[in-house]
Amino acid sequence: MMTHRPTCSLPAIVAILAASATVPALADDAKLPPSASRPIDFARDVEPILAKNCQRCHGPKKQKGGLALHVADRAMAGGDGGPAIVAGRSAESRLIRYIAGLEDERMPPEDSGDPLSSEQIGILRGWIDQGAKWSGTSVASTKTASDHWSFQPPRRPDPPSLKDRSWVRNPIDAFVLAHLEGQGMRPSPEADRATLIRRLSLDLIGLPPTPEEVDAFLADQRPDAYDRLVDRLLANPRFGECWGRH
Ligand code: HEC
Repeated sequence: MMTHRPTCSLPAIVAILAASATVPALADDAKLPPSASRPIDFARDVEPILAKNCQRCHGPKKQKGGLALHVADRAMAGGDGGPAIVAGRSAESRLIRYIAGLEDERMPPEDSGDPLSSEQIGILRGWIDQGAKWSGTSVASTKTASDHWSFQPPRRPDPPSLKDRSWVRNPIDAFVLAHLEGQGMRPSPEADRATLIRRLSLDLIGLPPTPEEVDAFLADQRPDAYDRLVDRLLANPRFGECWGRH
């Protein structure tokens, strides 16, 4: 037990240091530039400061100290030392303490850039005190982060125009057919029903249909027989087992 040991043990010293470093910053409030009282807009006021001074080391490429400041959820999650932004409480937010030089290392680090001005710190404080909202900006910031399609916001494109629409049953078919038409190709004729159920069954549940299932599908004259077959196979537990392997 700790109580039986001299208090100068290394764990005790580490514990004391750690405790003093995490004491709330209330006493330091006076040392901070005042929080901006005008309404702060993230895209207009905050994002440019972060982009110019911070994202080089806290962005898509590097996350020094485990901290990324280019997308909201990552920034709000904080870094190795825990949350860096406490919405509504700028004086307690480690991000502010770092840029104001109240932590061991000022941000940006001495050798890598000028300190932020009092006005810039006031803007970041105002933004945090007003709720640290990232509204309307994640699209802009992710665009600069990467051109990769997975970072782009979804768009709904218009289906392409076609010479012959008779094959098309839904808007996605139009994209497929447009590509075929572009290559001077036509879709293959639809397979017979016995082939369809066999393909569908192997695709979705990894097993061929039983002879009874084939007969039932051949005899099903309802116009949506195929859709019903898809639904039945999707509801089959084998569907999850089959695709769970991937
Ligand atoms: C040249 C690189 C560089 C730049 C630019 C930079 N930082 Fe850092 N930052 C670091 C490094 C390295 C650490 C880790 C320091 C450590 O662990 O002692 C760090 C740590 C931090 C942390 C603590 C993270 C944690 O949870 O431990 C915060 C907050 C922070 N930076 C904020 C900022 C802000 C805000 C800016 C812009 C105003 C900025 N930094 C600019 C390199 C940088």
